[in-house]
Amino acid sequence: MQNLTDKICLVTGATSGIGLATAKGLAELGASVVLVGRNGAKLESVTSQIIQETGNQHTSGMLADLSSVDQMHELAHQFRQEHDRLDILVNNAGAFFLRRQLSADGYEMTFALNHLSYFAITVLLLDLILDSAPARIINVASDSHRSQSLNLSDLHNKQRYTGFKAYGQSKLANLLFTYELARRLEGTQVTVNAMHPGFTSTGIWHQPAGWLEPLISPLMRLIARSPEDGADTVIYLAASPEVSAVSGKYFFNRKAVPSDLPSYDESTARKLWERSLQLARIE
Ligand SMILES: NC(=O)c1ccc[n+]([C@@H]2O[C@H](COP(=O)([O-])OP(=O)(O)OC[C@H]3O[C@@H](n4cnc5c(N)ncnc54)[C@H](OP(=O)(O)O)[C@@H]3O)[C@@H](O)[C@H]2O)c1
Repeated sequence: MQNLTDKICLVTGATSGIGLATAKGLAELGASVVLVGRNGAKLESVTSQIIQETGNQHTSGMLADLSSVDQMHELAHQFRQEHDRLDILVNNAGAFFLRRQLSADGYEMTFALNHLSYFAITVLLLDLILDSAPARIINVASDSHRSQSLNLSDLHNKQRYTGFKAYGQSKLANLLFTYELARRLEGTQVTVNAMHPGFTSTGIWHQPAGWLEPLISPLMRLIARSPEDGADTVIYLAASPEVSAVSGKYFFNRKAVPSDLPSYDESTARKLWERSLQLARIE
């Protein structure tokens, strides 16, 4: 892995699971890491923990509830005030909602958090990322995108909501966004890739999982990987010289793999981009 001293990284959902392991891994490589979290006390404690465990003093936190469009904008604004470059952006914050919930903007929560926050933070900081080139963007997606299709007329999942469908569609949106962004970034030195961390033992399967919990807990003990293993491909995409020029791919276990056919639909990707600009109130 490349030494990341002098590189500034932003990691969303960095207070637990794969995001925390990613932030720590990047700090170990010498990067200045900005952790984004929604819980001030947890953010402070995790930031101190990373500083203590890695010895890297250039680790700091920024508070934002990424299901809120206003807070996505505030985060981008605050980041610009405090930093003049962004070399590595890791969009990772995500959740699974067993029951349909609405965000402060009235958007369905899975769509707002898992897709719209990735989109908004990236687009709002894109000029800074381009000015910092060579730079990399990594979107934490999932194999749950498989066998899904995106219904552009029901992005807020009003019809026949299930947590699995909403989650799978949000992860399909991560791939449509990644491939569309890669096309828009052609000819620049900014790469964007998506990845699947594998079934990983993290908080995502605990907090809102209700009746799923008794089914998932034994499975986690038996077959789930550790957050560090889940984060391995993120860190590889952020820091390996092997992928410095690779863009627009989907990775699992450090290898580019094909994603499902609907994720390559350019027309859907363009329409999702336009809708996302409106929903994220980006001019
Ligand atoms: N675990 C798996 O098996 C698996 C498999 C495939 C893909 N993924 C993907 O991996 C990513 C990370 O998930 P994880 O498994 O590491 O789960 P996790 O341990 O629950 O971590 C999710 C992170 O997102 C943050 N978050 C949740 N809601 C937020 C909000 N409204 N605003 C800001 N931050 C928020 C959480 O903050 P708190 O610490 O405050 O809760 C936490 O830091 C997700 O995109 C997920 O879809 C996970």
